Amino acid sequence: MSVGEADFRRALGGFASGVTVITGTTPEGAPAGVTISAFSSLSLNPPLVLFCLGREAQCREAFGVGRAFAVHILAEGQEDLSAAFAARTEDRFAGVAHRLADDGCPVLDGCLAVLRCRCETVHMGGDHLVVIGRVQHIDLPDQERRPLLHFRGAYGRLG
Ligand SMILES: Cc1cc2nc3c(=O)[nH]c(=O)nc-3n(C[C@H](O)[C@H](O)[C@H](O)COP(=O)(O)O)c2cc1C
Repeated sequence: MSVGEADFRRALGGFASGVTVITGTTPEGAPAGVTISAFSSLSLNPPLVLFCLGREAQCREAFGVGRAFAVHILAEGQEDLSAAFAARTEDRFAGVAHRLADDGCPVLDGCLAVLRCRCETVHMGGDHLVVIGRVQHIDLPDQERRPLLHFRGAYGRLG
């Protein structure tokens, strides 16, 4: 039996997730960033995480093997940041408060947690890439805030 795309989206839309913005730099040195909900922890020892990125994403070269990237876990109220890094704009960082880490990655202000990683492996997964990175540094700037949630194609809240 073949599975229809609409049913697939409807079923998976019921799986609530957090929202991240993942930043890096292109091989030419330009900052890159993309909103990703397909993010997961993978391994505790060694500390590995993964995310799934569309194979045709313009920013894909920023997430090649050996490259540094930073995962920003978004907090409740950061819907604008999520929209900004999914938008087709020339410069997604325009007007977004950030600094450059020592590995060159743009690090955004005001997120729940930031995991600075180095890409270890990239696998093909259908029409997406599965990017696996080793976590090298963790910032936990604000644990009091609640996470931004996403399910059924919209943002949600706890409770
Ligand atoms: C809440 C939300 C979650 C998203 N999650 C993913 C995801 O997990 N993987 C992905 O490839 N694109 C995801 N996207 C879409 C990308 O952010 C968007 O298509 C991306 O900007 C395309 O990359 P490009 O501009 O580099 O081509 C998500 C968008 C939003 C708003």
